[in-house]
Amino acid sequence: MTILEDSNFWHKSVLLNELVSAIKLDENKKNIVVDCTLWLAWHAIEVIKKMNPWDIFVGFDADNDNLESARKIIEEKVWDEAEKKWIKIYLINSNFRFLKEKLNEIWIDKVNNIYYDLWVSSVHLDDFNKWFSFRWEWALDMRYDRTSWITAKDVINEYSENDLYRVFREYWEEKKSKFIVDEILLQRKTKQIETTKDLLEIIEKSSFDPKSKTRVFQAIRIEVNDEFWVIRESVKDAVKILEIWWILAIITFHSLEDRIAKQIINGFIETEIDQITWQSLTKPVLEKVSKKPIEPSESEIRHNPRSRSSKLRIARKINNIT
Ligand SMILES: C[S@@+](CC[C@H](N)C(=O)[O-])C[C@H]1O[C@@H](n2cnc3c(N)ncnc32)[C@H](O)[C@@H]1O
Repeated sequence: MTILEDSNFWHKSVLLNELVSAIKLDENKKNIVVDCTLWLAWHAIEVIKKMNPWDIFVGFDADNDNLESARKIIEEKVWDEAEKKWIKIYLINSNFRFLKEKLNEIWIDKVNNIYYDLWVSSVHLDDFNKWFSFRWEWALDMRYDRTSWITAKDVINEYSENDLYRVFREYWEEKKSKFIVDEILLQRKTKQIETTKDLLEIIEKSSFDPKSKTRVFQAIRIEVNDEFWVIRESVKDAVKILEIWWILAIITFHSLEDRIAKQIINGFIETEIDQITWQSLTKPVLEKVSKKPIEPSESEIRHNPRSRSSKLRIARKINNIT
């Protein structure tokens, strides 16, 4: 049984209406909208429904199973309608770090809406075949892209003491990591740490905080997939290829991710100041569409508790990068 056929499992979208209404379309031009994180295509379907004749929609997902789920759902729900309107749909199995290159391959160098719904999909936590969660025992892996060479097992067994500290400090920020790192170093002297169960035992031995398990697993996943660097590079490219006056939207799932989204957007808003005259030497590239990030309503949180820490940041491009 695949995850899509399992009635006990259903992924709910986050901030659906808020994201869809952030997407702006112009009736008098060919709009090109890019969804960088398709998965069950909840956002994509509503966006495609609102698109005009002859527009282009492009969706990415690094996980091929997720991309194929998106394809099935899009075919079932909006394909006919899109065909009637001559809307062209491209679905690309690629990490969004290759956004620019992949778009160039289909002759796209400018887009007018681009959005990200970051973090793993619920399937990565709920599906037995994905190996992201610690709820079951399996080999330590955690790669989105199974062809990439570094796994969670490599991080735990091969990283130096300093690198392990760096991973836990950067992606977790808790002092308790010292005890966990010490225990990892001790255990791996006698045998390889192979499975989620091995790692769980280490965490349970060295920290009483029940949240440590989630945080350690999250930190390792971020390192294995180089998630933060990838987000930075991809969003920078997204801003480059965005046409002036159009929209970048980012949904984040936890505070570390949101901090990165905020830093990138603010970096494009700040201008360089002349230290003598205090005049701006450069123009801001982005402006915020809403001053504060948009958060899920109480009713959304009630229906989908996993959405509670999500935030949506929306920005408009107002000048080219100089
Ligand atoms: C939270 S889900 C997106 C849910 C989707 N918006 C929906 O409405 O169903 C995030 C998706 O992004 C994908 N993903 C995560 N990191 C990625 C990356 N660097 N490049 C491309 N896809 C990525 C995951 O495989 C997952 O399918």
